[in-house]
Amino acid sequence: MSFEPKILGFLCNWCSYAGADLAGVSRVQYPPNIRVIRVMCSGRVDPAFVFRGFEVGADGVIVMGCHIGDCHYLEGNYEAEKKYAMLEKFLKLIGMDNRIRLEWVSASEGTRYGAVVTEFTEHIKSLGPAPTTGDNPDQTILTKLKAITMAAGSDRMRALVGRQRKITEIENVYGEKTDIDTFMEIFDNAIVEEYERAQIIIALEQKSKSVKDLAVELDIDSSIVLEHMTILKTRGLVDFGEIIGITPMFHKL
Ligand code: FES
Repeated sequence: MSFEPKILGFLCNWCSYAGADLAGVSRVQYPPNIRVIRVMCSGRVDPAFVFRGFEVGADGVIVMGCHIGDCHYLEGNYEAEKKYAMLEKFLKLIGMDNRIRLEWVSASEGTRYGAVVTEFTEHIKSLGPAPTTGDNPDQTILTKLKAITMAAGSDRMRALVGRQRKITEIENVYGEKTDIDTFMEIFDNAIVEEYERAQIIIALEQKSKSVKDLAVELDIDSSIVLEHMTILKTRGLVDFGEIIGITPMFHKL
């Protein structure tokens, strides 16, 4: 039996959803694999929605919105682009970045809507089922998915994504502007750091562990784990209780 992927689509109300409607009334033919969730704007699609989609069985997720310049909330699709870029980087950490897509489809592009859905469905078919789906999902990937969900939702990542355009495109009151390369370097480092911190928190869910235990389990250098523990303790997310020999054991708060 051929593999029929489950595709989750987030469509903005004003353009892409209307485009899908036009495809329907125009009897445009496309695969029936997509399940649509209507959102008011593509900028509303939080990365957590996409991660949740994978967690509950999607093989691929597509976000569609108005063409750049046509967003009914003026800048929503610019925000969608920034969030999507972060989403892609996080999914790359777990090898699933080739299962998402961002497309602009207007209300008059019913034919294009059908073509985009057809192409994306064929692409996901060629990849096969997502490792997070089926009767026997890959538990390691699911744990990593949980970690990237936690990391992408951290205050630090939300602040970086939310302020990216302001920081790189508009000068602040002191006439300062950060160049995009410097910003991206900070952004990429933050993604790795927040992912590792989320992995540490998840690893401490069941029992207390030392820095060395965590370093071995997560394959992260122990000096880096120690730096993360200092930050996580400052954030009130972990603490150490008992000391075994001379080794402090950390637990999740
Ligand atoms: S309203 Fe369509 S992308 Fe914002």
